[in-house]
Amino acid sequence: MPGKILVLGATGTVGSKVIRTLVARGEPTKAACRKSISIPGADAVAFDYLDASTYGCALEGVDRIFVITPTGCLDPVRLLTPIIQAAAARGIKIVLMTMLGVDTGGSNSYRTVELFLEETCAPFVIVRPNWFADNFHSYWLDGIRRGVIAVPAADGKTSFIDTRDIAESIACTLTSDAFNGQAFDLTGPEALSYAEAAAILSRAIGRTIAYTPVDDGIFIGLLTEAGISATYAHLLAELFRPVREGRMAALSNGVETLTGKAPRSLETYAKDNIAALTA
Ligand SMILES: NC(=O)c1ccc[n+]([C@@H]2O[C@H](COP(=O)([O-])OP(=O)(O)OC[C@H]3O[C@@H](n4cnc5c(N)ncnc54)[C@H](OP(=O)(O)O)[C@@H]3O)[C@@H](O)[C@H]2O)c1
Repeated sequence: MPGKILVLGATGTVGSKVIRTLVARGEPTKAACRKSISIPGADAVAFDYLDASTYGCALEGVDRIFVITPTGCLDPVRLLTPIIQAAAARGIKIVLMTMLGVDTGGSNSYRTVELFLEETCAPFVIVRPNWFADNFHSYWLDGIRRGVIAVPAADGKTSFIDTRDIAESIACTLTSDAFNGQAFDLTGPEALSYAEAAAILSRAIGRTIAYTPVDDGIFIGLLTEAGISATYAHLLAELFRPVREGRMAALSNGVETLTGKAPRSLETYAKDNIAALTA
């Protein structure tokens, strides 16, 4: 009898949708949370990356696990490698989400975690999504409310991806062995500048949203004023460098390969999230 699927980051943007997708498919799913919450259709289990005493209970009865770095974490190697090691030692299949582009260019902590995973004996799949379309109704929502998106992207294009497509892709890697041992870049279907994205969002919500390119200093100032730590604001600013350099405009067939469906456009994302974009 197959075991259960353990989803880390269960209350987060991606993890919550992975759980929803798995539950809808009738997959036995455990939702790992630091807080005690109830997630319909899944068994909630207490888990903290930083507390190894929570691993045994979380991994009990599990044969597949989804591993993600929480937003704001500055040291993914320290946070993720202990649970990857514990899962691998039990022969559990591990699906790891990192970020588009971490396997190109220089060394970085996400790539270090990927290599650590690849060197375990466990079956694994890696998924590397591009910037989430959903950031427009989370990180950039304050700007959208004011009618201006101000980020240091210059004219760089991004193939924004709807997190529903990320979650559905991850669910497919967890429920099939056909993709084991591989890594998949996940992108949306088209590369758009922030000006083009702002025009699409404007049409969807019926109100003009402008795009103002800013430099790193102004961007970091805006984020810290909004309560984001200076360290994380600097990291986010650094993530826009590959956008400006055109490296986030890449298109991949990862979503289609994994799910059999084309990824959703930014227009579809915007139409389906009008309430969140106008909240
Ligand atoms: N945003 C983008 O455009 C983008 C693009 C590509 C890749 N990514 C990557 O996506 C990841 C973030 O995904 P997301 O947005 O789905 O995350 P998220 O919404 O920030 O959710 C993080 C989850 O991790 C949980 N968590 C935090 N600390 C924990 C701990 N010590 N132990 C156990 N659970 C803990 C949180 O639960 P509680 O706090 O409730 O316990 C929450 O469920 C990051 O690695 C980021 O680099 C993001």
